Amino acid sequence: MQMLFLRRLESVSGVYRLVWDSWRMRERDRKGCISMSDFTEIAHQDSCSTFSSGPLSGLGRAITTGLATFAIATCVAGNGVAHAADSAHDALVEKGKYLTTAADCESCHTAKGGVPFAGGREFKLPMGVLYAPNITPDKETGIGEYTDDEFVSAMWDGVGRGGRHLYPAFPYTSYTKLSRDDVLAIKAYLFSLKPVHAVSPPNNMRFPFSQRWLMVGWNMLNNPGRRFEPDSSRSPEWNRGAYLVEALGHCGECHTPRGWTYGLKNSRALSGETMQGWKAYNITSDPKQGIGDWSESELEAYLATGHSDGRGSASGPMAEAVSYSLSRLTHDDIHAMVVYLKAVPPIADGVGVAPAPEQAKMPDPAASANSEGGRLFAGACKSCHTLSGAGRQTNYAAIAGAATVSDPEGTNLVRILLDGSVLDIEKNGIPTVHAFMPSFGLSHTDAELAVLSNYVLGHFSGVRGTVTADQVRDARTAQ
Ligand code: HEC
Ligand code: HEC
Ligand code: HEC
Repeated sequence: MQMLFLRRLESVSGVYRLVWDSWRMRERDRKGCISMSDFTEIAHQDSCSTFSSGPLSGLGRAITTGLATFAIATCVAGNGVAHAADSAHDALVEKGKYLTTAADCESCHTAKGGVPFAGGREFKLPMGVLYAPNITPDKETGIGEYTDDEFVSAMWDGVGRGGRHLYPAFPYTSYTKLSRDDVLAIKAYLFSLKPVHAVSPPNNMRFPFSQRWLMVGWNMLNNPGRRFEPDSSRSPEWNRGAYLVEALGHCGECHTPRGWTYGLKNSRALSGETMQGWKAYNITSDPKQGIGDWSESELEAYLATGHSDGRGSASGPMAEAVSYSLSRLTHDDIHAMVVYLKAVPPIADGVGVAPAPEQAKMPDPAASANSEGGRLFAGACKSCHTLSGAGRQTNYAAIAGAATVSDPEGTNLVRILLDGSVLDIEKNGIPTVHAFMPSFGLSHTDAELAVLSNYVLGHFSGVRGTVTADQVRDARTAQ
């Protein structure tokens, strides 16, 4: 069954590429000789994508081989073949780099302030503590000994080298939808990095979760184990968006609710979930609770830059997704994701801004500027956010209209006050955004943060917040 899906996807994308290539060849041929790069691209697809991944229809293979031979006959002389192999490899690494970014491998596999991909980042789960391993190509401490098949098995089945079952904190239940070509391009990129000798701290999972073989049963229940299958009744944009959201971007790992075995409930995909004390809001097309009433450009701005005026800024885990991954994607890919998200069937009762309690619209004394909350806001927050919430100095501080200041439960608001927030964006290695908010966990008591939160909710959204000092205390100790 799995093989069938794979075959279908690969033959569809293979043929697509062939049509595109032959068109380009024809265009360039019109202008004169076919260039070296045309040949290398085809040779690369030949050796790296099409043939190594096996099944492409006989016709497709014949055409590819024919084109490549034609190119050889036209242009290649002398030692050109070695050069071709080199630049084919470079192209594969370049493709892998982009896919690795879209799959956000770096943010999990890098310790705070550590070498990218060298592992060591801590994950506190309900079942214990895990550390992300080193995925640089170091042979002793990294993934340097992984073969292609072993790497594919880690990404599709969650089974690492030597048959070691991996925990699903590594989001292989989403990566299982990636094509083999894309998985191998990611591998080629990781193997082009400098090997780093680094051992992550030992995991500390509680019994029985410390028993990795239990994952065999878990996988049977929870890993779909199927490649992404394009839907030919939808546009190419929708299909690209679906692949980015479901497979590479693994958005559902945070935004889809989990069942009692901790597996993703895909029947309620993207309807929101509370994870690590944050609400990863409902992002289905429901107009009230989801993103249904966001315009395309609002959604694009939020994903690509982490901020959209009138919708707030991405904080916490979402700020990381923007910093390491989404802000580095092409405009076309961001647009494709938006096309897909806007078409996700609406689910109205997910995890989002909670319905306002009965008395919500009644004037709340806690929301007045003279209240204790109002005074705390003036002292600690107004300088950056201003009383209108329009923000000063950076538009990232424009918080009016954000879900976080409209949710009476104040879940993310409390998290942001305790953790602070940082969002960095780089373009071609040059920092372009550094949005920073300090933490108020040490400077304010639980009771102060509760009244401050209720003031913010009342003042910016006219809802009566339900944040209590106990809630703030629990949120402090949860992390
Ligand atoms: C949400 C966090 C997260 C993301 C995103 C993530 N990983 Fe991981 N990965 C982990 C954790 C945690 C483990 C360790 C799991 C375990 O110990 O069972 C892991 C394990 C692995 C392993 C097994 C390594 C070994 O020591 O055998 C490989 C390979 C791997 N990840 C590659 C990747 C690649 C490639 C990407 C991007 C496509 C990626 N990971 C994205 C968290 C993540
Ligand atoms: C690591 C967890 C995580 C991942 C992965 C993730 N998100 Fe989020 N997302 C969150 C959290 C948490 C928030 C709330 C952020 C806040 O309050 O500032 C959020 C907020 C959002 C919002 C704003 C919703 C609103 O109502 O304000 C959108 C849109 C969104 N995410 C889309 C995506 C998409 C698309 C992807 C995949 C490319 C994705 N997210 C991946 C955790 C995640
Ligand atoms: C030094 C300037 C600064 C101060 C002081 C500050 N903030 Fe922020 N705040 C920011 C910036 C910048 C962001 C956007 C951060 C990001 O995108 O990661 C932000 C984000 C937020 C958000 C998230 C909005 C969203 O859409 O999810 C809320 C809520 C918030 N601040 C409330 C407060 C409150 C309440 C205080 C006072 C206790 C405060 N801030 C103090 C700069 C500040």
